Order: sequence, then structure tokens, then C-alpha cells
Amino acid sequence: MDKTTSNEMWGGRFASGPSAIMEAINASIDFDKRLYREDIAGSIAHAEMLGSQGIISPADAAEIRRGLETIRTEIDEGRFAFSKAREDIHMNVEARLAELIGPAAGRLHTARSRNDQVAVDFRLFVKGAATDLDRALRALQEALLARAEEHAATVMPGFTHLQAAQPVTFGHHCLAYVEMAARDRGRVQDAIRRMDESPLGAAALAGTGFPIDRHRTAEALGFREPTRNSLDSVSDRDYALEFLAAASICATHLSRLAEEIVIWSTPQFDFVRLSDAFSTGSSIMPQKKNPDAAELVRAKTGRIAGSLVALLTIMKGLPLSYSKDMQEDKEQVFDAVDSLALALAAMTGMVSDLQVNAAKMRAAAGAGFSTATDLADWLVRELGLPFREAHHVTGRVVALAEERRVALEDLPLSDLQGVEPRIGEEIYSVLSVDASVASRTSYGGTAPDGVRAQVRAWRERLDAEG
Ligand code: ARG
Repeated sequence: MDKTTSNEMWGGRFASGPSAIMEAINASIDFDKRLYREDIAGSIAHAEMLGSQGIISPADAAEIRRGLETIRTEIDEGRFAFSKAREDIHMNVEARLAELIGPAAGRLHTARSRNDQVAVDFRLFVKGAATDLDRALRALQEALLARAEEHAATVMPGFTHLQAAQPVTFGHHCLAYVEMAARDRGRVQDAIRRMDESPLGAAALAGTGFPIDRHRTAEALGFREPTRNSLDSVSDRDYALEFLAAASICATHLSRLAEEIVIWSTPQFDFVRLSDAFSTGSSIMPQKKNPDAAELVRAKTGRIAGSLVALLTIMKGLPLSYSKDMQEDKEQVFDAVDSLALALAAMTGMVSDLQVNAAKMRAAAGAGFSTATDLADWLVRELGLPFREAHHVTGRVVALAEERRVALEDLPLSDLQGVEPRIGEEIYSVLSVDASVASRTSYGGTAPDGVRAQVRAWRERLDAEG
């Protein structure tokens, strides 16, 4: 078969023969051009080190730096012609460097391989993305804290099994997500600490015979120290996996709040109204206001968790050291980074903008005999009943209220005393939702004073971060 025509069985969509197919499967420039800043920073650090170690001449090192800076400007300004034939960002930059500065460009790749080059580029990228994620999570925490403070005493039903369980405050509910975001940040910060090592200088896989200074390049690139094993350095993608794992858990948290917003904004619940900025109308049903942003935040979780599973699967079973499989790491991470950044921005916006319908929340908080536990607790506290017996007595009171179709606090005292004669008038102060939440003063409980104290503590913690 003629090499330049495509295979008649499987080459239909390719203009020419196997070489075109090879280029299509092999080239990564369409996506890894996103690493150009990291790639150029890595090359400048490497060239300067080569110059100062006398591996290349200081004049060549200076030429290389100048050329790389020009290329960075060209790409920044959209004047760079990326070429698929040049495969990836590394070779695109290097080939352009040769056009700009001539033979000195050929010295840049001394004591280096694309294997450690891509490893350092991608680490720099993931470290930057993780730092941005941490910052975005802090912004979400601040938005949640503002709402928590404002609604420290706004009662709403607390749910288990999505059945109204006990009254809580909306502020307390918001603080639950502040805690989740804090753990997300902890995971991200932890991952940053672990990935803060430079693989540059591992060369292809075995290190190099040139007298390079890996500590110097590590420092120049802002890493704490160089990695210690060259084989591991070019094979390790744990930092990307850890980032994706942390991102997946974070996205899972966001999806839960998103789902709550979807539920709360239904006309049936009507606990919150989304601002026009974060909802859309229906093209056919004029009465509708759809929580699209919340739904999309919920959906992005699928992509982000999918990226984690994809990269785990790509890495699974790969023998040491580098294999081209690892080129497939980038699109997963890029997609997760972009999806999560967008989801977090949308969630932060929705949290800040949403209107709370406190009257609706209050009415629902009192429904479903939600203060039954308070009655049982009162029987334990005031009458000394064992909790199990109090539970039984309360069950009979609830059955009575159900039969009469009234709320617990609307049962006449005579009815209550029919079940337990020692119940007195003071029981009514326990049966209201406000009394219920105010009584939950245990550490971490929903009492408004406790919520306010937690808001203060979180503010201090965030302030201390700077
Ligand atoms: N584009 C490649 C990647 O993203 C760069 C490393 C290529 N190394 C190699 N030995 N072919 O992984």
C-alpha cells in the first residue's frame, strides 16, 4: 500500500497514510500548550543552572533565556504558530528557539529529557491549580460565614432521610459546609506539601553524568527541594491523582449543597429563591424559574470524579519508568481544574445571592412533630423518666396530635396530662421550635449562640491565615 494514502479499511477520516494517524494519536500540542508558562520557566531555570555550572557557556545561557522570554511573549500575545508536527509544547518551544537564536538553542536540552521536563512542567501547573483551588474554597467559606451569621437564629427543619427530623438553624446548616470546605482545603494543602519537590534533573530516567545542580533549579522554580529518585521522578503522577482526589471530594460536597438548593428552591419547599443571575426561565412555561447553575454544579461532580477514575486507570499497572500513557494525564487534570473552578465560583455566587424565605423555613420547622425529642428530653430532665420510657410516652402524645390533626404545642394540657399526668403548663415553652434550637447548647449544636460563636471562631481562623 502507498504510505501516503490512507488505509481503505480504517483510514477514512485521515488525509494521508499511517504517518497522519501517528501524528494524530501522538501529538499533545492541542492541549499541552496550556503548559507553556511552566515549560518556559523550567527551561530558563535549567539553562541558567547549566550556565552557572559551566556545562554551557554563560553567553549561551543568556541567549537561551532571552529567546525563551521572547517566545513567552509571542504565546502570551497569540502570535505563536503552534505546530502539530512538532508534537508537544516542549518541541514547539525548542524548535522556535532554534529559529530565534540559532545553534545555542541546541544546548538547552543538555542533561535533560522531555521526561523530566514534562514532569516538572506538570507539577508546577498542578501546584498552581491547587493553590488557586485553596483560595476559591476560602472565598466559599467566607460567603457561607456571612450567611451563617445573618441566619444564626433562622429556624428551619433539620433532615434525616430527607424527612424533617429536628429544628436547626439555617446558620448551622451553612456552617456544616464551612467545615467541609475546611477539610477540602486541608487535603489540598497537604497535597501541595507533598508535591513540592522538583523532578527536574532526573533526565530520561537514570539521572545524568553532567555536573548539574538540582537544588539550584528546585529553588529557582519555587520547590522546597529536589526529588530523590530519578526513576520515580519521571514516573510519578501522584500529585495529579491527589489533586483529583481532593477535587473529587470537594465536588461531591458542592453537589450536596447544589442538590439542597435544587430542593429548597422548588415551589413545594420554597425555602430559598435564587437570584436571576443564577437561574433561567423555561422557553415554554412562563411560570418557571430553574436552578440551572445548581444543577450544573451537581453535574460537574461527575466529570471531576470521572477524571480521577480515568487517571487512576491510566496509571494502573504502568511499569517504571516513563510510558507515553502518561501524556493522557493532562486533559483529565485540565478538565477537572476548569470544571471545579467554575462550580466553586457558581456556588459562591449562589450562596451570596440567594434569598432566604425565613417564614417558610419556620413553618416547615414546626411541622411533622419536629420537637418531639424536646418533649422526651423534658420528661427525662424534669420527671426523671428513663429515656426509653420518655420516648414511649412521647410517641403516645404524637399519636394523639396526629389523630387531632394539630401540632404538638397546640394540644390542650388536658390531652397531654391524659398521657402523663405530671406534665405541666411549662411544657409549652419546650415545644416551640425556637425553644428547641435554643436548647441545643452542646458544643457543635445548633443553638444560635453556639452558631455565632462558631462564626467568630472561623473568622479568627481565616483572619489568622492572612
Ligand atoms: N508529551 C509528552 C508527555 O506529555 C512529553 C514526554 C515525552 N517523552 C517521551 N519519552 N516520549 O508525556
